[in-house]
Amino acid sequence: MAMPQVFHSKEDMRAWSRARRREGQTIGFVPTMGYLHDGHISLVKAACERCDVVAASIYINPTQFSNNEDFGVYPRSEEEDLRKLAEAGCVAVFMPPTLYHPGGSSGGGGAAAAAAGAAGSGVDAGMVVGASEEADLEAHETWVTVERLSQGLCAKSRPHFFRGVCTVVSKLFHIVEPDAAFFGCKDYQQWRVIERMARDLDMAVEVVGMPIVREAGGLAMSSRNALLTAEDRKRCTCISRALFAARDDALRGALTDAAALQARVAAAVAAGGGRVDYVEVADARTLRPLGGALSGRSVLVAVAAFFGSVRLIDNVDFEVA
Ligand code: PAF
Repeated sequence: MAMPQVFHSKEDMRAWSRARRREGQTIGFVPTMGYLHDGHISLVKAACERCDVVAASIYINPTQFSNNEDFGVYPRSEEEDLRKLAEAGCVAVFMPPTLYHPGGSSGGGGAAAAAAGAAGSGVDAGMVVGASEEADLEAHETWVTVERLSQGLCAKSRPHFFRGVCTVVSKLFHIVEPDAAFFGCKDYQQWRVIERMARDLDMAVEVVGMPIVREAGGLAMSSRNALLTAEDRKRCTCISRALFAARDDALRGALTDAAALQARVAAAVAAGGGRVDYVEVADARTLRPLGGALSGRSVLVAVAAFFGSVRLIDNVDFEVA
């Protein structure tokens, strides 16, 4: 099994992509923050089916974290990641040491030094939102914001998140220049926001959303699952159980109202030991909250809940007749 070519500089990554394009090959791309699981690997496999060659990126993007989040302890396993990517058919991996010009343009005061120590990169830790680096007049100051879709759901408790994601994903699109990029629907709002960004900014890349991959007990795969205690790992399967039960009830007409659906899922997650961040019933395309009758609607039920200090998200989407 040949290991993928690893590129650390933007120039080398872009040169690889342009060489493939000159050969007439299409390029699939899977952006990740590493610590890969079967969900990521399903994206790589889907990309291999649709495109001639597949590249991935591994980069823990500081600008989508705030200083009270887990940037400094985000799990890493680079050797193992490269092996899994190779097995899945990925031939090139972009692993930049940083993607931002240095300087604390994010403002605020906080745990940058701790994050820097844990992550081993003072430059990037300074880009954590709320980090206390001195502002540098040469620092990165250009941000991509999808205005309405980036509100509500995860943005309520992570207001900085989508600006960081959109900015880094557009940087990655500019560097890798893929024909198609693959995202997991576990991060449903992220997928919709990136899809809208690519459309609105005429990016020449097809944004593809792929189904959630789950562990045997139903837990949606996430790199953060590694941070759960053994006890919480058992408890948190209540999220998918609650979502599936509510979806099945809605589909067979036993649950007909958005508020009742919301309350049912929230109660089940809380009873299972989760600290609910949000449970929302929304239109699956516009992400606007749904009220009243579910009939005839494309429904998204999205959950974020803490188990210990680990915040998990999950969702189901379905059409009600
Ligand atoms: O979903 C993720 O892992 C990240 O948000 C992404 C898309 C790689 C951007 O950093």
